[in-house]
Amino acid sequence: MRLENKIAIVTGGASGIGRATVLKLASEGAKVAIADVVSQQEAACKVVDEVQAAGGAAIALAANVASRSDVEAMVDAVLKQFGRLDILVANAGITRDAFTIRKTKEGEIKKMSDDQWDAVLNVNLKGTWLCCQAAALPMVEQKSGKMSLTASFGIRGNMGQANYAASKAGIVGLTRTLALEFARFNVNVNCVAPGATKTPMTSTIPAELVAKLSEKIPLKRFAEPEEIANVHLFLVSNEASYITGQCIFVDGGNTLGV
Ligand SMILES: NC(=O)c1ccc[n+]([C@@H]2O[C@H](COP(=O)([O-])OP(=O)(O)OC[C@H]3O[C@@H](n4cnc5c(N)ncnc54)[C@H](O)[C@@H]3O)[C@@H](O)[C@H]2O)c1
Repeated sequence: MRLENKIAIVTGGASGIGRATVLKLASEGAKVAIADVVSQQEAACKVVDEVQAAGGAAIALAANVASRSDVEAMVDAVLKQFGRLDILVANAGITRDAFTIRKTKEGEIKKMSDDQWDAVLNVNLKGTWLCCQAAALPMVEQKSGKMSLTASFGIRGNMGQANYAASKAGIVGLTRTLALEFARFNVNVNCVAPGATKTPMTSTIPAELVAKLSEKIPLKRFAEPEEIANVHLFLVSNEASYITGQCIFVDGGNTLGV
């Protein structure tokens, strides 16, 4: 098994890509802490049951990644339970779409609110940074660790997603900087940039629009969550020992060409 005796945290592990990543890591022998918000604890416990049914080990932890105290308590709980931390998959993320500015038919000007901006930047960018900061402490002490963060193919720019695109582009800069800062401690930091993936996050997109968007993707379809989880697994395994500071697009070729 590729992750035997490894201890991992997957944030946002109760749903979608996070859930698929928990199952992959656990199937390769890692003991996984599934960190997600309080309202997702029932879903997180179901993922724990799935892992255990397959003979693996997992625990569920309530943590809002945008809260420093929650994130520090999350890492402390893992250290208390398992004694070390080898892997962080920083996957938790949200969208709050709205155009930066738009004139409606009624003549009103509508624009993205400060709340929408702050919510997305706080969870996606600050949340990732807080998790990396807290996870780095035991990893630096151990002189080993792997982090796989989550950007998006949306960093190219996406209508109505100024907040999301900015947060995910920030994660690419964060990945590169942390890779430089942590390299001397043998801690690798990379990120995955998923393309459109079949998860609850995209489940409200109408079927006709999914078909239209799929037509523009060279591989002509959305990704399965497992196809993104495969790359997180690779990046946190020893097979990726000489890769750091990279952003790997897993988007069916969507960022190619014109
Ligand atoms: N689905 C896509 O098409 C797609 C494309 C590109 C990038 N991504 C990114 O992949 C990641 C996973 O997305 P998904 O599609 O699986 O979404 P999802 O909505 O299915 O799952 C996200 C999980 O993150 C959790 N979460 C949200 N805010 C949190 C917080 N403050 N603290 C802790 N957990 C929190 C949610 O409760 C949920 O369980 C996100 O970072 C997302 O931006 C998704």
